[in-house]
Amino acid sequence: MEQKNKIEVMLTREQIAEKVREVGARITEDFRGKEVLMIGVLKGSFVFMADLVRAVDLPVKIDFISAKSYFGTTSSGVVDVKMDTHLEFAGKTIMLVEDILDTGKTLSVLKQMLLTRGAADVKIVTFLDKPARRTADISADYCCYKIEDRFVVGYGLDYNEDYRNLDYVGEVIL
Ligand code: IMP
Ligand code: MG
Repeated sequence: MEQKNKIEVMLTREQIAEKVREVGARITEDFRGKEVLMIGVLKGSFVFMADLVRAVDLPVKIDFISAKSYFGTTSSGVVDVKMDTHLEFAGKTIMLVEDILDTGKTLSVLKQMLLTRGAADVKIVTFLDKPARRTADISADYCCYKIEDRFVVGYGLDYNEDYRNLDYVGEVIL
């Protein structure tokens, strides 16, 4: 495919599919007998979410949330929810699904918000994890690939809104 930047392949579609199947199987084991509620963080999670729900062999309900977080002098941060979930989750476990866990600030604010609104527990499911960049006190409960501190695109991840549709993950060579 013709692209605007040079993209170096990091994860092939086969490598992605294999790990998504594995994570789906783990969730199926861990949630057996329960209903799975997955909330994807837009926009980046949409491709991962579509594959993940089909890799889970249990009843699944899904929704999406869109949020922007602001961080002032306090480390806690405020989240401005642009598009909210209408799922009923009081007393239930929510799986919060992200494309990539970077500093972790956004997910930690969203997790706290969902707990405050009555979720029994919030599990973090992320396609990619960049642990070297973490500043918030949060870790992934389920993760497909840990990567080095590189800027990557594809499989939902963008660079200025481009490249979300790549079926592989690549590093943008600027
Ligand atoms: P944070 O964990 O609150 O820092 O925010 C993570 C968000 O930053 C992700 O949902 C992505 O939208 C974006 N992001 C972080 N690293 C990358 C990357 O390598 N490529 C594309 N987007 C990224
Ligand atoms: Mg994102």
